Amino acid sequence: MAKTVNLLLLPGDGIGVEVTVQAVRIIEWLEKNRGVSFKLTEALAGGACIDKHGVPILDETVEIGKKADAVFLGAVGGPKWDALPFDKRPERALLRMRKDLDLFANIRPAFLFKPLVGASTLKEEVVSGLDLVVLRELTGGVYFGTPRGIETLPNGERKGVNTQAYTTGEIRRIARVGFDLARKRRKLVHSAEKSNVMESGRLWREEVQWVHDNEGYSDVALDHILADNCCMQLLRWPKQFDVIVTDNLFGDLMSDIAAMLTGSLGMLPSASLGERDATGHQCAMYEPVHGTAPDIAGKDLANPLAAILSFTMALRFSLNMEADADLIEKAVAAVLDKGYRTGDLAALPGDNVKKVGCSGMGDAILRELDRLAA
Ligand code: IPM
Ligand code: MG
Repeated sequence: MAKTVNLLLLPGDGIGVEVTVQAVRIIEWLEKNRGVSFKLTEALAGGACIDKHGVPILDETVEIGKKADAVFLGAVGGPKWDALPFDKRPERALLRMRKDLDLFANIRPAFLFKPLVGASTLKEEVVSGLDLVVLRELTGGVYFGTPRGIETLPNGERKGVNTQAYTTGEIRRIARVGFDLARKRRKLVHSAEKSNVMESGRLWREEVQWVHDNEGYSDVALDHILADNCCMQLLRWPKQFDVIVTDNLFGDLMSDIAAMLTGSLGMLPSASLGERDATGHQCAMYEPVHGTAPDIAGKDLANPLAAILSFTMALRFSLNMEADADLIEKAVAAVLDKGYRTGDLAALPGDNVKKVGCSGMGDAILRELDRLAA
């Protein structure tokens, strides 16, 4: 009997919903053409869940996510819920999934598809052939550190507090993921922190070096770089990087920079992975890096490629379906080659450019998959 893949779908809000629809069409294509069966469970997350249940995500949804082979999330948030306190905002759904599933390793590859070289704001020679990964620690640091909050001081002033904290264990486990990832690529890791001003950065640097020296990673080159310099170098000469391993906050910033090198935030996929347990199960969530884009939501204008590429990461990292991942990535490359562009990519009018919407891009990918599989 063919295997059944358990997938939790959290379309979320805004364009998250539209891009998820296109990812599901790819799933249906795989079922029809590749002999796999998916059991899809769909649930509300973010603003949609707040509107229905008063909370950003239900406990039962988190539990389903823990047991699923993979979770796919569209995007959460929007102006409608902006005034809510932190613990009630749509983003809480995302942060809670990350924390409760212990998804500490966030892999954000920035890969430039050749035909999109003109969509980048950087010069062709700087970005052509770009292929790097920002590996962001996702469950620690200032996003979750305590104490945190806003307090009123005796003199009536208010004070906002967040805490950047990392333990040896948290740093070592993300460092290992970085070295293992680099080993399958160009064998170069840059570890980015602010060891010149932050104790947590100093520890980060020492512990990453420790893992390198004591856990048999001498075949992988390790460079330490200050996070601000790393941001600058990403814009100056991004091709010097292979894998950048960094903390939660710096990784948030650097992955947006890296995304834009590739022409559009609409192209960047991501995988968030937990540790494999004794039974071999590993929690994992896949999501496009882009947000909910309220300005274009509901208009069939969104770029579904980051969502589709996030799904191919699920095939690779969670579902052991490398060949299918290769096929879908090939289809994406071919469709871009043929000139199909959503609005975010169609900066330069050219003879060959066919402007499409979100579902039009999905149609083009499916046609290409049919062609490749024939
Ligand atoms: C990201 C996003 C999130 C983050 C927000 C939506 C909470 O910017 O995944 O990069 O800050 O981690
Ligand atoms: Mg971000």
